[in-house]
Amino acid sequence: MNKTRIGVIGMGYRGKIHFQNILQRKNVVVVAISDPSMNREEIISWCEDAGHPIPAFYTEREGYEEMLQNELLDGIILSVPWDHFTAILCRTLSFNLMIGVEASSISKLSEIDQIMNSYFANSSKVMILENACYHRDVMSIFNMVQKGLFGELLHMRGGYEHDLRGVKFDKNYQYGTGAEGEASWRTIHSLKRNGDLYPSHGIGPLSYLLDINRGNRFISISSFATKSKGLSHHLKKHLGTDHPNANISWKLGDVITSNITTARGETIILTHATNTCRPYSLDFRVQGTEGIWIQENGNHLHIDSLCEHGEWSPSPLSILREYDAPCWKENESLAATSVRHEMDYFVLDDFIKSTQDEKEPKFDIYDMATWLSISALSEISIEKGGVPIPFPDFTLGKWKSRESFYSQE
Ligand SMILES: NC(=O)c1ccc[n+]([C@@H]2O[C@H](COP(=O)([O-])OP(=O)(O)OC[C@H]3O[C@@H](n4cnc5c(N)ncnc54)[C@H](O)[C@@H]3O)[C@@H](O)[C@H]2O)c1
Repeated sequence: MNKTRIGVIGMGYRGKIHFQNILQRKNVVVVAISDPSMNREEIISWCEDAGHPIPAFYTEREGYEEMLQNELLDGIILSVPWDHFTAILCRTLSFNLMIGVEASSISKLSEIDQIMNSYFANSSKVMILENACYHRDVMSIFNMVQKGLFGELLHMRGGYEHDLRGVKFDKNYQYGTGAEGEASWRTIHSLKRNGDLYPSHGIGPLSYLLDINRGNRFISISSFATKSKGLSHHLKKHLGTDHPNANISWKLGDVITSNITTARGETIILTHATNTCRPYSLDFRVQGTEGIWIQENGNHLHIDSLCEHGEWSPSPLSILREYDAPCWKENESLAATSVRHEMDYFVLDDFIKSTQDEKEPKFDIYDMATWLSISALSEISIEKGGVPIPFPDFTLGKWKSRESFYSQE
């Protein structure tokens, strides 16, 4: 059996999850890893336990360059800090591979232009590894929309509402160079930027449901920011008011809301809230002429044809499970063995299949460009007082004729 050969660039939190999930597969092998600060002993022991070969290690900051030159690869998983994302992706694009990119953030629209230029000049393919698109309930809702249970879609909400205070600061309440984990690179963005810094977990699933870039597209975005109080409140509480870190002026508003309009006349409210206390939520709401689903502290579902007039379904979960996507029905037990989230099984599965078949991935470079552009567009809109900013059409008109998600499945 010819095994699919994968290289991993960035072996931190997410890179390790993908790596461990690959170790559970027999038809895929990680042949090389590039990361300047990976834990080689840990990786070697995982490989030995799983009976996989030990990959080649590239430990220089630009070791990916040597790795791409030296190794025979079919695909790359790119999972690096946001500031490294564009440069590494552009280099990787020129090696004509299938590239799976983790959910990321770009600061300027020019980064997307750079990526698209590199994409058009080469023949690599890109899949955005947005695991939230493979969330079991999101895929059930897709199935229900496809079967007409929601009627015509009108309005959606989603977002990234995640108390990241424990991620933005390490256990010593430090951030930036020398701090541990994501605190070393993520937090600086809250200091310098004011916008929806991390849109894809929310907008990815909504784009899937709305067929964005496939007969539909985003037209405009207007974004608004609250004042920024959460991070300084948190630091004052733990470090005291006299500590220098307690008096930093953070730029990122605690709650960012964006209003997005689409070519087909739907609206979306997208939220980003990462500076204050709250349980995790992707804040989903899907509203059509025949039904509404809200997911916040559980599922709330009203489908006209299934529910009492004006009442929520008393058993939303059983309806969602009845409409599970075929992939979930077939592979639920395999997904249960996945490291971290069950949905990580499905996003990796799609990536591997696209790599093996050398076919366009389900969520491709146009989706990546559209979703990631929201961080830069929302910053521009907030800076201008919330004025609507037009979305660039990254598909260059192809959105009108690209095959609908609903006819692919
Ligand atoms: N899908 C999800 O649920 C999810 C969750 C968390 C993070 N993410 C995304 O995954 C990406 C990575 O985040 P993370 O949490 O793994 O961060 P992390 O800090 O844990 O890991 C990043 C790794 O990249 C390495 N790195 C830095 N520069 C590099 C270079 N030049 N070449 C190779 N490796 C380099 C670092 O040494 C580190 O090991 C980010 O875009 C983040 O937004 C996605």
